[in-house]
Amino acid sequence: MKNYKIAVLAGDGIGPEITAEAIKVLKVIEERNDVTFELLPAAFGACAYFEFGDAFPESTIAICDSADAILKGPIGLNHEDSKKIPIDKQPERGALLPMRRRYNTYANFRPVSLPKALAHFSPLKPEIIGEGIDIMMVRELVGGLYFGNKEMGVNEQGIRYVKETLEYDETQISRIMHQAFKLASKRRKLLTNIHKSNVLKSSVLWNEILEEIAPQYPDVKVVHQLVDSAATNLCLNPGQFDVMVMENMFGDILSDQGGGILGSLGLMPSACIGPDKAYYEPSHGSAPDIAGKNIANPYSMIGSVAMMLENSFDMADEAKNVWNAMQAVFADGYSTADLSKAGSGVKMISTVEFGDKVVEKLRLG
Ligand code: IPM
Ligand code: MN
Repeated sequence: MKNYKIAVLAGDGIGPEITAEAIKVLKVIEERNDVTFELLPAAFGACAYFEFGDAFPESTIAICDSADAILKGPIGLNHEDSKKIPIDKQPERGALLPMRRRYNTYANFRPVSLPKALAHFSPLKPEIIGEGIDIMMVRELVGGLYFGNKEMGVNEQGIRYVKETLEYDETQISRIMHQAFKLASKRRKLLTNIHKSNVLKSSVLWNEILEEIAPQYPDVKVVHQLVDSAATNLCLNPGQFDVMVMENMFGDILSDQGGGILGSLGLMPSACIGPDKAYYEPSHGSAPDIAGKNIANPYSMIGSVAMMLENSFDMADEAKNVWNAMQAVFADGYSTADLSKAGSGVKMISTVEFGDKVVEKLRLG
């Protein structure tokens, strides 16, 4: 019998609601496999700040350190409420980035996946969607502008200025490239490299390292694409992409666009993998406007559980079953109010009902 410890950080806004549904799924997996999941809930985000004065308190750090994997809900407050927390203690800067740094989770996998059962959510025309969209965005997560030196002040002329540094060294670039190449060789053997080497030196080095590594993966075809052009192509012809690799900031922006072409960021789970620890989180925010209404779809959180099963617990078959169960619920015509308008022909259900239906399908499969 395997016993895994999972730190469960439900987060802010809709976080606790969608986390509760993800836990139901873990229970089903536990029931029918030779495995136990020890769930270790811990405060993280704005809620932790208000309780402990710290968005990533020591007690949570200790729990995460001891866990085999971390399941993390969305964090953050709306623009106005954010002002109640000093800038450096706000959940993004005070919790999320420190977590990424602490566990060195440099490889962020964000599936942009639109199987037939979800096609009606997409704003793209059916002829553009074709047989569906199946992209894996690989985002470097602990370098670049996010983690470079930051400086803000007033210069000698009395003019306010800001300076942020975009820094990468070759080891940071090569490790994410290897992740992307390995994944590409398991999929369609097509890697699209996203860069901006016509302007940024960081992209020149990025591309140089890629060229050096590429011969180790002779079966993978590499296509280079400028980030701005990729943004257009994601809308015009998403089928041209399979695995995409990009630096941190490009990945932040293009992965949100990925959510856009699916129809909602609510359809974007993710895995953040480091050398010794991984955490799993939806790619979206805490949606304070719909929190507590039981209308948020838990897809991104349950999808994050599926990614955890596959990457941290070597349970790829169960991961597949979880994806299939969610798609089966959509295929039956169900949706939640965050994803669909009333009267749009879907059978509207709540967050909790969606979770229950996924569990039902999972038990069948
Ligand atoms: C994401 C989020 C974070 C990021 C924020 C919350 C700091 O937008 O995971 O994409 O920018 O990386
Ligand atoms: Mn983002």
